[in-house]
Amino acid sequence: MTGAIFLRRNPLIAQTQEQTVSTGDTPFVPIEKIVSLCKRRGFVYPNSEIYGGVSGIYDFGPLGVELRNNIRRFWWWSMVQTNDNIVGIEGSIITHPRVWEASGHVENFVDRLVDCKNCKRRFRYDHLPEENVRQNKCPVCGGELTEPRKFNLMMETYIGMLEGERMKTYLRGEASQNIYLDYDNVLKSSRMAIPFGICQIGKAFRNEVTPGNFLFRQREFEQWDLQFFVHPSQMQQWFDYWKERRFEWYKSIINHKDRLRFRAHGPDELAHYAKQAFDIEYQTVLGWQEWEGIHWRQDWDLSRHSDYSGQDLSYTDPETKERYIPWIVETSGGVDRTFLNLLLDAYEEEPPSGKGKEGRTVLRLNPMFAPVKVAVLPLQKNKEELVTTAKELHNKLRRLMVSQYDDVANIGRRYRRQDEIGTPFCVTIDFTTLADQTVTVRDRDSMSQIRLHMNEVPAYLLERVR
Ligand code: GAP
Repeated sequence: MTGAIFLRRNPLIAQTQEQTVSTGDTPFVPIEKIVSLCKRRGFVYPNSEIYGGVSGIYDFGPLGVELRNNIRRFWWWSMVQTNDNIVGIEGSIITHPRVWEASGHVENFVDRLVDCKNCKRRFRYDHLPEENVRQNKCPVCGGELTEPRKFNLMMETYIGMLEGERMKTYLRGEASQNIYLDYDNVLKSSRMAIPFGICQIGKAFRNEVTPGNFLFRQREFEQWDLQFFVHPSQMQQWFDYWKERRFEWYKSIINHKDRLRFRAHGPDELAHYAKQAFDIEYQTVLGWQEWEGIHWRQDWDLSRHSDYSGQDLSYTDPETKERYIPWIVETSGGVDRTFLNLLLDAYEEEPPSGKGKEGRTVLRLNPMFAPVKVAVLPLQKNKEELVTTAKELHNKLRRLMVSQYDDVANIGRRYRRQDEIGTPFCVTIDFTTLADQTVTVRDRDSMSQIRLHMNEVPAYLLERVR
């Protein structure tokens, strides 16, 4: 292993962050604040940290895994469960190596990189500012850059025990390939007819030259894909349809709606499989960056897999009997980028609202994504009746949603702790509860409180957190 794979700060990142820390009316949140919150509160940890870590690979902690599951669940619900002509699969990470020859990844899935002869920093050639490319100068120290060299991003692995019988293959470089491999099986086993789509959420692996910006560019990450199979004459119509729908989907899950836009790919940046592509981009402290790609894959994938496997993957229209290779609209986004963008979008540091008042950090996450939906808090922990009642309510609520019981520190501190992780509601058991069975329900965003009978709390919360 070379030093390059261990945790290393990308100098370009530091530069970008300084340049874009504050524009418009709400300042962008520095990535460092999210990294620190994630570690401190158990959302994300560096992978194998006790051994010094591996750059571009992360683990998700107790709150992170809840947030991830909520994100995945909402995508699956809106793409698979609510569309009659879409089904889901879960394919394997390792496939036959010929898959990656057919897909074009072995030959074409490359990044060009350059090194600075002076400071020895390494850059992706296509990420260099134009000025530095023209002058062949390092963007950090001004030193001379080497000629660009090509690196394949596929991660190799081996199947089999014995020398001679071992087969070299790859961890999948894009999750979507399983969908093309299973396309024919799905067609035959699910009574689908074109136009129809197949969805999948799954891990992908890339030997990124410059991983960095926390979860933004990793070596192991998770993608969600829709591959939508159409008749060639309907390609434009479905491409436009999915482009708009996916844009609206992202818009519906963020607070800063003005930070979302489309960007068309220029001819020189199109992936080898795409004839046309648009990125849905989100603006953060890192500038405008891709969140999801909408790709016009045409017949590239099914034609190539037909040629390489010898299996005819053409489709016969049941009514017209026309035979053709279906064209594909792909919408491919990142679970990890969604995770990061939602945190960047939701994070706010509020100053104290008056004299003697404390400020707070609050994650204004949509309640359906919040890792903890409700915190149940006895006003004092040394009053047994308060504690017993709070635990009873917590036990009732945890069967319906993620509920946390907390009796450590004063009530203000406990509210702040929940605000920081985005818990939309706190329920407090106080002395009035013991008299009339009512509790206070505090709203994270407005900090306003209402009193409800304990029996009404589950329905009240369920209506607001689902
Ligand atoms: N099948 C098409 C495909 O893989 P892509 O634009 O390379 O297209 C799709 O990737 C999405 O996957 C991106 O929009 C991004 O959200 C996510 N993604 C790609 N590379 C990533 C990385 N190194 N780390 C985290 N997410 C990544």
